[in-house]
Amino acid sequence: MRWLVTGGLGFIGSNFIRVVLRERPDVRIVNLDAMTYAGNPANLRDLEDNPRYRFVHGDIGDVNAVESAIGDGVDAIVNFAAETHVDRSILDPEAFLRTDILGTHVLLEAVRRRGIARYLQVSTDEVYGDVERGESSEDDPLRPRSPYSASKAGGDLHVLAYRSTYDTPVLITRGSNTYGPYQYPEKLIPLFVTNLIDDQQVPVYGDGLQIRDWLHVEDHARGILHVLEHGTLGEVYNVGGGNPRTNLEITRLLLEGCGRSHDTHVRHVVDRPGHDRRYAVNTAKLSALGWAPRVPFADGIAATIVWYREHESWWRPLKSGEFLEYYKRQYAHR
Ligand code: DAU
Repeated sequence: MRWLVTGGLGFIGSNFIRVVLRERPDVRIVNLDAMTYAGNPANLRDLEDNPRYRFVHGDIGDVNAVESAIGDGVDAIVNFAAETHVDRSILDPEAFLRTDILGTHVLLEAVRRRGIARYLQVSTDEVYGDVERGESSEDDPLRPRSPYSASKAGGDLHVLAYRSTYDTPVLITRGSNTYGPYQYPEKLIPLFVTNLIDDQQVPVYGDGLQIRDWLHVEDHARGILHVLEHGTLGEVYNVGGGNPRTNLEITRLLLEGCGRSHDTHVRHVVDRPGHDRRYAVNTAKLSALGWAPRVPFADGIAATIVWYREHESWWRPLKSGEFLEYYKRQYAHR
């Protein structure tokens, strides 16, 4: 079998490719990635000589790049390619519309044109919007509140429209906040861990009482794989870790793990505009299909801190150049 993975040099995509090559010996992977700031060849350097892995440099919004990645044909497309950072979407929404909606459209057209048997859209629990109480189920209305989540919701709706209109063989997963190795250090956990390793302060938005549900990246990757292999076409599946924590609780764990103290290393900064207070997904549908997360949260966080400590050569180059400019734009005025 040959699968096209898009955005496979990113955080969840690269972890997914590694899991598939390890656990599915009959699968070959073509990875189409635009190598934007978050698409890092170092994430899969160890696979460069693997005969079951091929890399194609290109954008999912470019029909020719998609055609050349599909080549003689593929059995499935798994679309990880996306602009994913909420704060960046507040600074520059357009890039999000281009990749997350128009890029998705180009892939769906390729599925139709080439008669590809399965298309899986990797989406997010943020499309449900702020969840004051209870849990979001797959049929709940979408109420995205940031340019990022609105563009992901647009992508999801387009995917489902292709199912209704053309009977396109689609699946959607909606994952919760993901953590683990190879996450670009703009997101909460890798930003805070790398700042703390460097004896710098961490910027907590607002009161820090916002709640996210944390999912280890390998569990997320296996959830997506499970849906790809066992999901019912046309259906949406939530993938959640079952580890709801406030940002302050996460901050406390990271301070402890890095041997730093709250008083000297935490800075409360002006809140993110339109900041969702809480996400929570109901994962009964995916559990009924036979998936369950395996990584206990305390172990996953401890291992993640160790990973960043041991992989300074991976993240240090990322926290220079483009990142420093972004960091200044994002945090200087707060
Ligand atoms: O829920 C799934 C989503 O999780 C994914 O779809 C997104 O791609 C991913 O970025 C993530 O979105 P969040 O906005 O929840 O993640 P982020 O790591 O940016 O922030 C997590 C929480 O921490 C959020 O409440 C904002 C807060 N935060 C974040 C940063 C970067 C801070 O307090 N300070 C910070 O510097």
